[in-house]
Amino acid sequence: MSTPIIEMHGIVKTYFEGRPNELEILHGIDLVVQPGEFVSIVGESGSGKSTLMNLIGALDRPTRGSYRLDGVDVSGASSRQLSDIRNRKIGFVFQNFNLIGRSNAQKNVELPLLYAGVPPRERAKRAKSLLELVGMQDRARHRPAELSGGQKQRVAIARALACDAPLLLADEPTGALDTATSRSVMDLFHTLHREQGKTILLITHNPQLAAETDRVITLIDGRITREEKGGGRVD
Ligand SMILES: Nc1ncnc2c1ncn2[C@@H]1O[C@H](COP(=O)(O)OP(=O)(O)O)[C@@H](O)[C@H]1O
Ligand SMILES: [Mg+2]
Repeated sequence: MSTPIIEMHGIVKTYFEGRPNELEILHGIDLVVQPGEFVSIVGESGSGKSTLMNLIGALDRPTRGSYRLDGVDVSGASSRQLSDIRNRKIGFVFQNFNLIGRSNAQKNVELPLLYAGVPPRERAKRAKSLLELVGMQDRARHRPAELSGGQKQRVAIARALACDAPLLLADEPTGALDTATSRSVMDLFHTLHREQGKTILLITHNPQLAAETDRVITLIDGRITREEKGGGRVD
């Protein structure tokens, strides 16, 4: 078997450690994800899904436990190494899109490429083809305020793909969208999974969408309580 893209053992996350208000949120998470899997994480609000996602995304460090991201030990990495790993390995998609309001769709998609030091012409070309991929080529000059929720999320997904990271982390990406729009965003994730071999971790409140993924992980009060095989996509 190949190196897991995510390998977590005994992950504990405590906020306000050592203080009177110390709060242990994750109580020992074991999670192994292989390259090319599409995994969903479900659980009630406050169960620790976003906390876990922040750890997986190397945006935060665990209090205890070991975490290897594509074979690299994240627990022992410096902040600089963490941001380097993040930029190369992970594309993030959020419920509220997190687009830059004053920049148009094209510039939003170009931004990670700018940070990565990609020259302007190549940036523009790559962003254009990504906007095509997500069906947003006609809206390249629109700013986020001039786009619908579903369109904003497509642009955000194009941005997440900019540096060709193998892993997409999506925290409630359809949480702010209506049913039909959620469907089309979910279809886009399926396409990226199937056609580009992306590994996808999807946090969702929607059990029907979760059931379409390869594997459904349920989090209750900071513990993985259940793991089921999803049905995959029914076409
Ligand atoms: N930065 C933080 N500092 C302190 N407590 C936090 C922080 N982030 C989340 N929490 C707490 O952790 C718990 C889990 O939150 P979260 O991971 O956002 O859950 P979910 O995404 O499942 O709704 C909540 O009780 C929340 O208040
Ligand atoms: Mg959350």
